[in-house]
Amino acid sequence: MTFKSIDYSGPVGKSLVRKSGREKVTGAATFTAEHQPDKMLHAVAVTSNIARGKIKSIDTRAAKNLPGVRAILLPDNVPSFKRIKTFNDSGMKHSLASNVFPAAETEIFYAGQYVAAVIADTFETARDAALLVKVTYDTQSHVTNIDNAPANERPESLMGAPAVITKGEDAQQAWQASTVKVDADYRLYGNHHNPIEPHATIAHFGKKNGKPFLTVYDTTQSLAPGQATYAALFDLAPEQVQVICPYVGGAFGSKGAMWPQSVLACLCAKLVDVPVKLVATRQQMYGGTGHRSPFRQRVALGADKDGNIQSIIHSGIASTSRKDVYNEAFTMATRMMYRTESLHLEQSRCRLDTQLPTFMRAPPETPGLYALEATVDELATELAMDPIELRIKNEPEVDQHTGKPFSSRLLVDCLRQGAERFGWRNRSAKPRSQKDGHWLIGMGVASATYPHNVFPTQVDVTLNENGTADIACCTQELGTGTRTAQSQLAADMLGLPIKKVNMRLGDTALPPGGISGGSATTASVGGAIRNAVEKLKEQLLTLAQQQDEFKNASLDDIHFVQGAVTDGQTRLPMEDLLEQAGKPNLTARGSFKGPEEQKYSAHSYGATFVEVAVDEALGLVRVRRMLGCYACGTILNARTGRSQFIGGMVMGLGHALQEATHWDHRYGRITNDNLAEYHIPVNADVPDIDVMWIDTPDFNASPIGAKGIGEIGITGVAAAVSNAIYNATGKRLRQLPITPEMVM
Ligand code: MOS
Repeated sequence: MTFKSIDYSGPVGKSLVRKSGREKVTGAATFTAEHQPDKMLHAVAVTSNIARGKIKSIDTRAAKNLPGVRAILLPDNVPSFKRIKTFNDSGMKHSLASNVFPAAETEIFYAGQYVAAVIADTFETARDAALLVKVTYDTQSHVTNIDNAPANERPESLMGAPAVITKGEDAQQAWQASTVKVDADYRLYGNHHNPIEPHATIAHFGKKNGKPFLTVYDTTQSLAPGQATYAALFDLAPEQVQVICPYVGGAFGSKGAMWPQSVLACLCAKLVDVPVKLVATRQQMYGGTGHRSPFRQRVALGADKDGNIQSIIHSGIASTSRKDVYNEAFTMATRMMYRTESLHLEQSRCRLDTQLPTFMRAPPETPGLYALEATVDELATELAMDPIELRIKNEPEVDQHTGKPFSSRLLVDCLRQGAERFGWRNRSAKPRSQKDGHWLIGMGVASATYPHNVFPTQVDVTLNENGTADIACCTQELGTGTRTAQSQLAADMLGLPIKKVNMRLGDTALPPGGISGGSATTASVGGAIRNAVEKLKEQLLTLAQQQDEFKNASLDDIHFVQGAVTDGQTRLPMEDLLEQAGKPNLTARGSFKGPEEQKYSAHSYGATFVEVAVDEALGLVRVRRMLGCYACGTILNARTGRSQFIGGMVMGLGHALQEATHWDHRYGRITNDNLAEYHIPVNADVPDIDVMWIDTPDFNASPIGAKGIGEIGITGVAAAVSNAIYNATGKRLRQLPITPEMVM
């Protein structure tokens, strides 16, 4: 074991209502754009309506004449800032997404680029004036279509691995020599995140203790990285910057990096020297805040006649922007999903005149695993094998790329137990053989996976003399229930009831946490809490020994039980210990960086089952039932955990059947940049969703036994839906989303 196991006996695993739920539904939760600092002005951005070229002139006369307009931020009056490196180029030292700076460039890199901003007394005036700003351009030819861009770049590295990975003999030859083989090409549209809370920033350059001080209300998944980024941008020490965000109204990766509207709000605030609020419109979020790249992928699988996979080839293209780099490692899961003698993974990159792609809902498994798991289904058909049995037959003993053992896997359990509960045995392997009236019925399955990530995190845990405990960490509440789940964890380890534990987060004044991305928050914050609790034990043991208690006890003997510290014999109430020591409270700073040395290949796993009904005459696909069975180590809260899996699965439905960013490539602009035309699942699209999990902690992966659950739900869905449509209709549809005209 990498970490010593914990026997949870308190609130961990209980189905508790999230603390932020009531705050949100009663309106007590204050979101970023709802803050109202004194003297605040409103800024509205002016965006480029061409995809590539140069600004020729900006005519602000009409805008300036509007009563209530205070200033117009333009390339020639932009306050000073440093052109720091992006997160990709700085090794994640900063969270800055892009080196295209708002209102500071005369060159245009994508439609929707912020070229100016109007600052006014009211939002309405600023918006009105922004429409009056007239920008003229020298237009250059652009490419926004992935099929028209040369894929002539190799990513430098893909999540710590090279862009080309080869194992064993020549995979193409091995594939050629295989008895049974499949080779499939996949096309995936790009996607946009569409959180309901738009990207918003309120910035103020003021003073604190006589020194310049920047306060930023920001909707973000990256508070502490944001603080470092603002500091670097504006030449301040991190202590001269405070970023605040107690609630996030949806993000899905789009608030992981710092997008231009945050920088623009700061530049406006610096220009007018009072607080300025800037909220991106829905349209501006399409141009401005990142998206999932479109993809072209190929997966080829070769097997012997018994279904032993002999060759896996996974290759393809993702896009990045003209100026900046984001690499989505869509071949990553293929490194370790199946046992194979020969493996060849190869990614290339093309440049498009668009905003930079970014993390979106389980990157890179969502696009990559779709292609892999749909092809595995094709292989099962060629072999006339059950697709679950084919997967189990090719279960690897070790990670095929690193050779490391798995921290735990339990994928076979997920497939078997999920199949049992879903009623997989009622499936007919023959396409078009199950009907319900004019509907063709089909079942599909796919594996799900997501890597176990952690980010360095620090936490203060405080024991108070009234018998309560406080947790403080600058992590983010994405809406997933972090405050509740981490309070459960701390309560369990401290032997306290859940109502005695409170958590503060969402403020850089608290000990630094990492980005809430990569499904990393639970294990990262939890690891730091465990460390803090262990330090508290040491302090309490010392206190007790000063009073001649626990004289012969070692740290291992000390436990927290029902508000008391015990060595197994003597029981000392924590309040009494603090009182005797003359201390009102006791705080320990815990930290967690991840294991010193990565001995294991650590991932969450799952199996996704889908039943579809297809009306070929109308091209309709109705998902009737879904089941996800997951193995993600300890689940801290059964209710919020279940919600996260369901949320991921619903996003998977969107990815499979609805979500697509459409372009008019003649103009290099997005045509469905709104929630009316960018289709996402609504209640009528979402069937009964059944969720179950294998309740086995993974202390090889994490000090609290938990692995990530936030994103894995989405990863198997598109392939399971596609495989179910094949089972219903006999059609292999190798494109996402699968739309009516493809089904007809
Ligand atoms: Mo997640 S897409 O890493 O926020």
